[in-house]
Amino acid sequence: MEKQARFALIGCGRIAVNHLDAIKNAPSAKLVAVCDIVEEKAKKVAEEQGLEKWYTDIDDMLNNEKVDVCCVLVPSGRHAEVAIKVAGHKVNVLCEKPLDVTKEKMKTMIQTCKDNGVKLGAIFQRRSFMAAQETKKAIENGTLGRVTMGDAYLKYYRDQAYYDSGDWRGTWELDGGGALMNQGIHGIDLINWMMGGIESVYAHCEKLVWDIKVEDTAVISVRFKNGALGVIEGATTAYPGLDTIFQVNGSEGSIMFGDEGFYHWKIKDNKVDQPDVSGSMGGLNCQYNTNNVGHILQVEDMARAVLDDRDPLITGEEAMKSVNIILAIYESARTGKEIKLDEFNQ
Ligand SMILES: NC(=O)c1ccc[n+]([C@@H]2O[C@H](COP(=O)([O-])OP(=O)(O)OC[C@H]3O[C@@H](n4cnc5c(N)ncnc54)[C@H](O)[C@@H]3O)[C@@H](O)[C@H]2O)c1
Repeated sequence: MEKQARFALIGCGRIAVNHLDAIKNAPSAKLVAVCDIVEEKAKKVAEEQGLEKWYTDIDDMLNNEKVDVCCVLVPSGRHAEVAIKVAGHKVNVLCEKPLDVTKEKMKTMIQTCKDNGVKLGAIFQRRSFMAAQETKKAIENGTLGRVTMGDAYLKYYRDQAYYDSGDWRGTWELDGGGALMNQGIHGIDLINWMMGGIESVYAHCEKLVWDIKVEDTAVISVRFKNGALGVIEGATTAYPGLDTIFQVNGSEGSIMFGDEGFYHWKIKDNKVDQPDVSGSMGGLNCQYNTNNVGHILQVEDMARAVLDDRDPLITGEEAMKSVNIILAIYESARTGKEIKLDEFNQ
């Protein structure tokens, strides 16, 4: 059998299940070690996976195991410190979203990986949703004519028990924000990616329901670099949690898609048929998604990136974009001003 990349998990919490399943199903990856600061969690996963040892310390694990890629699955505001430690061992990093929660930490993490000659890949599993890929294509190849609007509706529901399930949830320091930085970031990544970049944001962010420090409801007016306008709405207060919906409109057609695929594909030139996107992954309208296709594709891609010595599909630089957009949104909500991304990112 062809060589497989050797994966280790750092963090054995909720999202670890998706990574374990992805490593099992990705032909080029195999699991060799797990680590969590809470020993029972590491031990439980190790035993379930047939590993003889488990670790509670990252250095200890990387000094004792031969690892090619560490999946960083710890609370968001600790991603950079963990990735920097892993890079110091000359081990590649596959980091969960968001890359981290401040510009400075993300920049240091990207630079440290470069300085140590290791790859930094980031998870945004919904980029593998074919409806998003086909919509991006339709925007770029002119199928929609002059694109005038792009909207993302990211109306989810999380209850107080969810926020109480970890002391990092709903905090500025470790969650980096609320409905946008934790849940909405997937949709913000997609609308920015499909539309070719956000130029400026004007936002209202409120904490309307949950006992947390960060926003649970937000509405943002967006100007895209291609001249189109749009709206992003994000919430964890929309019972029972709705589909993730995107709408893109132009002078020659309109597309609307959600978790089930395309809901509208109306193009003036009726020779352009609606693409078949059945079987690909949708969005996430409940607390945890059971469809793991996106994680499997990204773990396989990271393994191949290491084995074939190429960049991963989503690099650290690419993953940083959506965090910077959300930080600009928070700045706009705080100051009451429209924030231009280019100036904000300098
Ligand atoms: N891609 C997605 O759709 C998706 C979904 C859920 C969560 N996530 C991301 O995954 C990350 C983890 O979320 P979760 O829901 O699994 O959280 P969680 O609280 O369930 O798990 C985090 C785990 O990390 C462990 N940990 C903390 N610091 C550590 C350290 N220094 N070394 C080793 N282990 C450490 C904790 O003990 C805990 O078990 C977050 O950044 C979150 O945004 C992504």
